[in-house]
Amino acid sequence: MNQHAHPAPLPFIDVAAQRRRLGAKLDQAIARVTNHCQFIMGPEVKALEAELAAFCGARHAISCASGTDALMLVLMGKGIGPGDAVFCPAFTFCATAEVAAVLGATPVFVDVDDTTFNINPTSLESAIATAKRLGLAPKMVIPVDLFGLPADYDVIADIAKSEDLFVLDDAAQAFGATHKGRSIGTLAHATATSFFPAKPLGCYGDGGAIFTDDDDLAAILKSLRVHGEGTNRYDNVRIGITGRLDTIQAAVLIEKLKIFPDEITARNRAAERYANALGNLVIVPRVPQHSTSVWAQYSIRLAPGMRERFAASLKAAGIPTAVYYPKPVNRQEAYKHFPVADGGVPVSEQLAEEVISLPMHAYLDTTTQDRIVEAVRCAVEHDPEELQSVQTR
Ligand SMILES: Cc1ncc(COP(=O)(O)O)c(C=O)c1O
Repeated sequence: MNQHAHPAPLPFIDVAAQRRRLGAKLDQAIARVTNHCQFIMGPEVKALEAELAAFCGARHAISCASGTDALMLVLMGKGIGPGDAVFCPAFTFCATAEVAAVLGATPVFVDVDDTTFNINPTSLESAIATAKRLGLAPKMVIPVDLFGLPADYDVIADIAKSEDLFVLDDAAQAFGATHKGRSIGTLAHATATSFFPAKPLGCYGDGGAIFTDDDDLAAILKSLRVHGEGTNRYDNVRIGITGRLDTIQAAVLIEKLKIFPDEITARNRAAERYANALGNLVIVPRVPQHSTSVWAQYSIRLAPGMRERFAASLKAAGIPTAVYYPKPVNRQEAYKHFPVADGGVPVSEQLAEEVISLPMHAYLDTTTQDRIVEAVRCAVEHDPEELQSVQTR
């Protein structure tokens, strides 16, 4: 054997291992749809919605074409538009702010907490003041449950109540997580999630869902996702979109939902092993006592300037990494003209310099994980000075 051969690269998310586990049941589920031919709003869509609602305890689950559409439909349903301020964390995927901008509203960027990476309530209060000073009407806050960990909804609800803000949970990364014993889907006025394949609960293409207990909003959302239909498809009572979930994707999700609780347990087991093995080497994510995470990402922090060498070192060992997110959204070309909370977003800026994510999925066996841990140890030990500066923070 060639002693210098590179080790086989690992997958960042092992979708193929999950596919093997789902086996013939998944083929049969898809075949049922290709046999009954109700590709749009077929029976699986309704069945999935009932199962998703039961899973999280929400009164309504409304499936749709993507996580972005899930967010957008809620903004449309609430009539968000020009002159309205929508508060978004700066450290998120752009879609959180994009939906506000697409509708002509103004995303106002809020800083995040240094430990949870989720929206910082003090910065939210500053952002509300910023928006008012700019003559904008504060309408909505979109907390993001970053990397699978719920934001602090009790504190956010208090601020939202005093300012009459609608709370839309961007749970694209966090379906299946909990906060103070309540499930994602029930923590805000409405919740949007994504079934993008890499998400904890992903389908085999694009997909998403909205959760709410509000009957009126649910009826509006169902209309909006089918071109604003009224009593039927050719009765258009509002401006909507083509925002439906494909029946085939619903069939895939029904099968995946069956193994999802077990997968969440496996992800948490993997996260715990990472924390135990890496906690004295790098800054590892910590879950507040009253929350559970679904670990959409396992993101560690390194000292600024260390990340590139670290990633290269892991890559040489066949271990992929990813950076979520290398730039806060307020620094992106398309978003840099939108307002930022008074006091700026220094934590978001710092995180963008320091975070790096390791492979995380439900099929990370202990041998593979030990290989990753060993590669992290080697990479960090090449950079002892930088490591020192991380540990003393
Ligand atoms: C925080 C966040 N919001 C929204 C989205 C958008 O979801 P989708 O890709 O399904 O449109 C994503 C997806 O990556 C996300 O991570």
